[in-house]
Amino acid sequence: MHFHILTLFPEMVMDGLGTSIIGRAVNHGLLTIDAVNIRDFAENKHNRVDDYTYGGGAGMLMQAGPVYGAYQSVAGKTEKKPRVIYLSPQGQTFSQSMAEEFAKEEELIFLCGHYEGIDERVLEEIVTDYVSIGDYVLTGGELPAMVMIDAISRLIPGVLHNDASAEFESFQDHLLEYPQYTRPEEWHGKKVPEILLSGHHLNVEKWRREQSVIRTAKRRPDLLAKAELTEKEKELAKKYCQPFLKMSQNN
Ligand code: ADE
Repeated sequence: MHFHILTLFPEMVMDGLGTSIIGRAVNHGLLTIDAVNIRDFAENKHNRVDDYTYGGGAGMLMQAGPVYGAYQSVAGKTEKKPRVIYLSPQGQTFSQSMAEEFAKEEELIFLCGHYEGIDERVLEEIVTDYVSIGDYVLTGGELPAMVMIDAISRLIPGVLHNDASAEFESFQDHLLEYPQYTRPEEWHGKKVPEILLSGHHLNVEKWRREQSVIRTAKRRPDLLAKAELTEKEKELAKKYCQPFLKMSQNN
C-alpha cells in the first residue's frame, strides 16, 4: 500500500506516522507513506496558497491551483488514477468497514484542508471520497488522515505481529471485545475470573462471547441491531440494555 498525503504540514503527518507499529511497517517495506507539501505548488513569489472567499465571509480558503499541482505530482506518476480522500466534517463517517474497503487499494491519496476549506472547483475535479472522522470540527485534515492511515494499515497482512489479532477485535460481528487480563492473578483485591485460569478452552470461549454481548449491550447498544445473536444471547442482551429491549419489542 502506498499512502500519499497532500498537506501544508508534512512534518506533522510524517512524525506522527513514523513511530510505533506504522513506523515499523514502513521500515519493513510493508507500506510507504509520503507527504507532499501543497505550499511547494504555490503560484506566487510569496508562497501563499490561500485567499479571501468570493462573496465575502470570514476566513481564508485554500486555492485550487496549488492543491491541483500537489495532486498531479502524485497522480501523474501512478498507472491507475488513485482514490482521493478529502478529510472533511461534511464527509461520510469513517468506520471499520470503510477501513476494510480502503485496505484493498494499492494507492491512496489523502487531501488535508486547512483554513476554512478548499476551493470547490478542485474538489469537484479530483476528490473521489469525502470522509469525516466524527461530528466535531478540527483545525485541519492531518489528524483525520493519520487516524485513517492507522486503521487501514493495521489491516494490511504483516503489519500486526499477530495477524489473528486483527480478526478478534472490536466490531468483529458487531460486538465489542470481551474484558482481558494479564498477570498478576490478583491486583487491588480484584481476582482474574476463575474460568480464565481453568484451561478449559471451550468454556473460556463461551464466557468471552457472553462478555462481548453484555459489554455491547451496556456500552454500545446501537451495535446490537446488526449483530447476529442466538435467542439466548438476545435474552442476555435484554437484561443489560433497555434500548435494545424496546427495539426488539417493536420488531
Ligand atoms: N477536518 C476538520 N474536521 C474534520 C473531521 N471531523 N473529520 C475529517 N476531517 C476534518
